[in-house]
Amino acid sequence: MKPPFISSVYFWSQIFTVLSKAAAVNQASDFTPKAFVTGTEIQWPENLPTALILDSDSPIATLDYGAEVAGYPFFEISTLDGPVQIEVKYSEPYDGLHQPWADGPYTFSTSLANGFRVETFNVTKTGKLQSSLIQGGQRWQSVRLIAGNSLTFTRLGFVSTVNDTDLEKYPSQFHSDNELFNEIWKLGAKATSFACVEKGIQVPALKTDPVKGTFFQSTRASPNVETSKLENYTLEFEAFIERSGLWWTVSQPLTYGSGLQLLLTGDLPEETTFANTNRSLTPANSILLSKGYDFVNQTTLDAYLLDTFEVPFAVHEKEWHNITTILSDGDRISVHINGQQVFNVSLDDYYTGGSEVPLSGSYGFGAYQDHSAWVRNAKVYDSNNGTLLYKDSLRDHSASAKYGNQANLATVCLDGAKRDRLVWLGDFYHASRIIGASTSRFDWTRGTLSFLLDTQVQNGELSMSPSMGYDPSTTIDAFSEEGKHPALEDYQMLGFLSFYHFIRHSGDLQYASDTWSQWQKQLKWLLSTVNSTDGLVDLTSAFLGDSSGGAAVSCLAVETLNGAAEIASALGHSSEEKRYKKSARALAQSINKNLWNENLGTYSASRSSKQKFGVPDLAWCITSGVANSTQTSKMLSSKVLGKLKLGPGYKADTTVSASDPSASISPNTNGFLLPALFMGNATNIARDLLVSVWGAMLPYNKDLAIGNDTTATGTSWEYLSVDGSPGLGLFTSHSHPWGGAATYVLTEWATGLRPLDGSEGFGYSKWLLDPQTGIALGLKKSSAKVVTGSGDILSVSWELEDKFLRVNIDAPPGTSGTVHFNGSSREFRGGRKNSASLPV
Ligand SMILES: *[C@@H]1O[C@H](CO)[C@@H](O)[C@H](O)[C@H]1NC(C)=O
Ligand SMILES: *[C@@H]1O[C@H](CO)[C@@H](O)[C@H](O)[C@H]1NC(C)=O
Ligand SMILES: *[C@@H]1O[C@H](CO)[C@@H](O)[C@H](O)[C@H]1NC(C)=O
Ligand SMILES: *[C@@H]1O[C@H](CO)[C@@H](O)[C@H](O)[C@H]1NC(C)=O
Ligand SMILES: *[C@@H]1O[C@H](CO)[C@@H](O)[C@H](O)[C@H]1NC(C)=O
Ligand SMILES: *[C@@H]1O[C@H](CO)[C@@H](O)[C@H](O)[C@H]1NC(C)=O
Ligand SMILES: *[C@@H]1O[C@H](CO)[C@@H](O)[C@H](O)[C@H]1NC(C)=O
Ligand SMILES: *[C@@H]1O[C@H](CO)[C@@H](O)[C@H](O)[C@H]1NC(C)=O
Ligand SMILES: *[C@@H]1O[C@H](CO)[C@@H](O)[C@H](O)[C@H]1NC(C)=O
Ligand SMILES: *[C@@H]1O[C@H](CO)[C@@H](O)[C@H](O)[C@H]1NC(C)=O
Ligand SMILES: *[C@@H]1O[C@H](CO)[C@@H](O)[C@H](O)[C@H]1NC(C)=O
Ligand SMILES: *[C@@H]1O[C@H](CO)[C@@H](O)[C@H](O)[C@H]1NC(C)=O
Repeated sequence: MKPPFISSVYFWSQIFTVLSKAAAVNQASDFTPKAFVTGTEIQWPENLPTALILDSDSPIATLDYGAEVAGYPFFEISTLDGPVQIEVKYSEPYDGLHQPWADGPYTFSTSLANGFRVETFNVTKTGKLQSSLIQGGQRWQSVRLIAGNSLTFTRLGFVSTVNDTDLEKYPSQFHSDNELFNEIWKLGAKATSFACVEKGIQVPALKTDPVKGTFFQSTRASPNVETSKLENYTLEFEAFIERSGLWWTVSQPLTYGSGLQLLLTGDLPEETTFANTNRSLTPANSILLSKGYDFVNQTTLDAYLLDTFEVPFAVHEKEWHNITTILSDGDRISVHINGQQVFNVSLDDYYTGGSEVPLSGSYGFGAYQDHSAWVRNAKVYDSNNGTLLYKDSLRDHSASAKYGNQANLATVCLDGAKRDRLVWLGDFYHASRIIGASTSRFDWTRGTLSFLLDTQVQNGELSMSPSMGYDPSTTIDAFSEEGKHPALEDYQMLGFLSFYHFIRHSGDLQYASDTWSQWQKQLKWLLSTVNSTDGLVDLTSAFLGDSSGGAAVSCLAVETLNGAAEIASALGHSSEEKRYKKSARALAQSINKNLWNENLGTYSASRSSKQKFGVPDLAWCITSGVANSTQTSKMLSSKVLGKLKLGPGYKADTTVSASDPSASISPNTNGFLLPALFMGNATNIARDLLVSVWGAMLPYNKDLAIGNDTTATGTSWEYLSVDGSPGLGLFTSHSHPWGGAATYVLTEWATGLRPLDGSEGFGYSKWLLDPQTGIALGLKKSSAKVVTGSGDILSVSWELEDKFLRVNIDAPPGTSGTVHFNGSSREFRGGRKNSASLPV
């Protein structure tokens, strides 16, 4: 037992920590605009007037938050000549404010956020008005008066739903005398902070009432996780339209929105219908039937609007209606409301995108933009014999779990702030490394990895992209097919490497040991994919290059197995270490034997595509060490790499047409290339790539004629177009950690601070400082900080003077490191500050 005074000191220090944390959270909890302007149209805001007044002379406000922000929109209203209706738009790029749907909608998945980027409010009183729906990421906002006389806002913005967005406070840092590099470093760091969310903070708008059932608004229909294997069924439920209409889905696969979508619009009474309701898309008393993600096309998300059916009577708002949907005879769907048939059609009579619609998959509920409805008493029958197969009252709290609408169950990192708000396995690779170089929020990493591990199926694979609102363990049965996760199988390896880099940065061997048996199972699966005939990896599908006998996937497997060997060694499992190393060596030999193509000067994309090669093949075969230095030099020559150059970066592979206007440049795969360029001493190429791809994401830089104020969000992008503007149009995510590799690459190669290779380097227990590459990049000075395994900070800086390189090191006790410079090395012990001058 401790002496009482210690425990009281402890007590007060805890109280103080809690209070100061609470204060910090409060202060940081609202995002407010940096500039706004009012007028008759969307316009570039320059200033911050004291009060924002909307009236018939100035009905539109354009607001700029200066950079990415996220949260629940709020409005503090001091005067109101009302009621008034305001239409609010949210967008990452400025141009989105000019579009009818801003930069949305986002109907890819259930995402615990507003599925739309236009939100309308009926303002009836002064005071604070707050949306119950999260907007996950935007820099721009507009507020338009669409009905009523006038109102004054004293304050508006977003109640933050993200943490650690203040870069200055990150424990891990990078600086240099190149301002552009400093700004580039921030992109991935900030994007990751907006994509990683604290447990329980992403709260869905869905609510449940013991009488009225479950309330859905402004989100894509979310499928029920318990009914994924249904076929040829009849769905019955009761619905009460609160405003405008209801969206439901049948034959819906759990993760992706490609099922049958149904949208019922009620009678749209004048009093409760917003002035901006799109009556051509959602006419009163109608049902829209579509196949796909939505009822409108959105970039890569296809929607086939099959028909719009008139309901032969008025579907009154705020009344209960019985709705029956029957899937039968292999191709028929019919809908009945209150016993009256609205339609009965054969899907074969429609164009559904060239593929048949299977009458199998889950059902679920949602609501279109600004629509809302209550749903209760769902029952599912077998259409052939009428047997009751399933029922759910939707009147108790289990509804949120079934329909994937629980507040996020773990601290997890999503693919992007505003879009693809799923826990993507492969895309976490860059995020994991970025965390190590910036926020060092290893709890984000552990949360994400554990969430993914909870989805592991029998054969060892993890889910490719679990949704944060579904219990990951229930998804094992529901999401998998025959005990497998049908998906991009190379993501398994990228997922493992996210774990490896986390261990490399954090040295958290406790976590490694606690989860090792699951990783072993995943590695066992990986080894089973090696083809016994030619020794290459054979996957059923892959994101990186060719899946079957591919160079990228096989080299990625070598890197994975070597990483696994290091972790096995750190855990003291030496026979496993040997086994993984041996497999990696054998795989590398097979790749060199079967895929190295001396004429091309690089590896062929796969055993069946001998003349093709791509960025992932080059990148992973270099970083995994499969290519020796002679091969690496050839691969990085203009004769080889030059064939992939396109716009600001490198295209995926040689088969992509350079003149294809829709070709995109992926900062994700160009991010895999970056460390390969540095490892291969192609420093100038690496510098050009850093500047052209990541510089394009920044505000306009006059000297370099790069960047753009209308598209910069302070965060890294998902895709670029060939002209350097954001790729994938307005749909694209401007805050995507997968596009942020430059962050950790700058720390590791521009400052040159890295954990030593091998398990000795875990947690920076042994580290390396190699300023040579930074100097070759043109830097005169650079510094970096990282959090080590003990939680203490390792801080290094160097500066090139006339005759000396001046180095300052502040390393925690128990660590030691080496500075490599000019052909010599110098050892530094942790525990005290060190400085040295090394001759140039
Ligand atoms: C921020 O982090 C703190 C501490 O982990 C947590 O209590 C708080 O809820 C978080 N806030 C948000 C908006 O994520
Ligand atoms: C706005 O609220 C007022 C007052 O409650 C109500 O009379 C009006 O019908 C509402 N308008 C809409 C479009 O909901
Ligand atoms: C209304 O919906 C139609 C599609 O049916 C779309 O073309 C149009 O742009 C929409 N208009 C507005 C103002 O949202
Ligand atoms: C979406 O695009 C496809 C072609 O890519 C087209 O067949 C379909 O009709 C479009 N859907 C809508 C709702 O416009
Ligand atoms: C569903 O209907 C299709 C076509 O009639 C049939 O092939 C399939 O076997 C049915 N499934 C079940 C479970 O009855
Ligand atoms: C809906 O069905 C319930 C239960 O069968 C019935 O009591 C109710 O009257 C029906 N409502 C309408 C509007 O048909
Ligand atoms: C729908 O139409 C088909 C073909 O005419 C018919 O066999 C079926 O019974 C109808 N279904 C309903 C529920 O009326
Ligand atoms: C009705 O069909 C289901 C298959 O959907 C079957 O399991 C069940 O035994 C059948 N019931 C009767 C009464 O035929
Ligand atoms: C294994 O490789 C051989 C050729 O080397 C190929 O014919 C065979 O299809 C591959 N097996 C699989 C499962 O891909
Ligand atoms: C590198 O690999 C190539 C192709 O396998 C081989 O010809 C060459 O001798 C190797 N070079 C070195 C330095 O190992
Ligand atoms: C890059 O430079 C290092 C250090 O000088 C050297 O060991 C390595 O072989 C070089 N690699 C290539 C591809 O030139
Ligand atoms: C920036 O992007 C906008 C489109 O959003 C474009 O009109 C403008 O020309 C671009 N400016 C520069 C300097 O490239």
